[in-house]
Amino acid sequence: MSLPRLAVLISGTGRNLRALCEATQSGELPAQIVLVISSRASAPGLQYAREYGIAHQVIEPKTYVSREDYDDALSAALDAARPNLIALAGFMRILTEGFVRRYQGRLFNIHPSLLPKYPGLGTHAMALKGGDTCHGASVHYVTPELDGGPVILQGSVAIQPDDTPDSLSKRVMEQIELNLYIPVLSWAATGRLHLTDEHIVMLDGEPLRAPLQLLCSHQ
Ligand code: GRF
Repeated sequence: MSLPRLAVLISGTGRNLRALCEATQSGELPAQIVLVISSRASAPGLQYAREYGIAHQVIEPKTYVSREDYDDALSAALDAARPNLIALAGFMRILTEGFVRRYQGRLFNIHPSLLPKYPGLGTHAMALKGGDTCHGASVHYVTPELDGGPVILQGSVAIQPDDTPDSLSKRVMEQIELNLYIPVLSWAATGRLHLTDEHIVMLDGEPLRAPLQLLCSHQ
């Protein structure tokens, strides 16, 4: 039986993409990455698609006159690859409502904050400025509200007194982010995870009342 088909959308360094490539190769993530799309031709993360022999396409916004046109091009590329699951992995674009609705229930995002705290950019600096004691990352289903879809799994690290946005970002990436997508996508790939039309996350047939927590090292 063929494995569920996963598409990954990136814009940058691709550390999450690399972790997904490794996990599909080792079998930890029972899926096959059928397409990588980058919104930037110069995204370093494209190297992992090449390294792992995965089909990849660059779809750059500057070629399109409107957000709708851009998202139509994304949809055309995705639909040709017939993905069961789509992972936004550092994809630096706000998607149109039409796009999100089209793929809702199979579209996931990873975000570097303990959502609902700090949607958008600059999350590490905001956590420091806010005097938070912990900071982390979340994987959520994508709904039309930016970084606002139901969170499935998140994890946190303690903020240290001498942390800078860079040191915090590195720790969140290495200790949390790179461990979040693989379990979530594995549950989805094996049919254990669903999103209902009412935006309720179902895991193993039970509604998820609160996000699952990977780790909270400060507790
Ligand atoms: C990650 O922090 C991700 O959460 C955010 O953008 C960053 C992408 O990093 N949305 P990478 O491209 O996976 O290295």
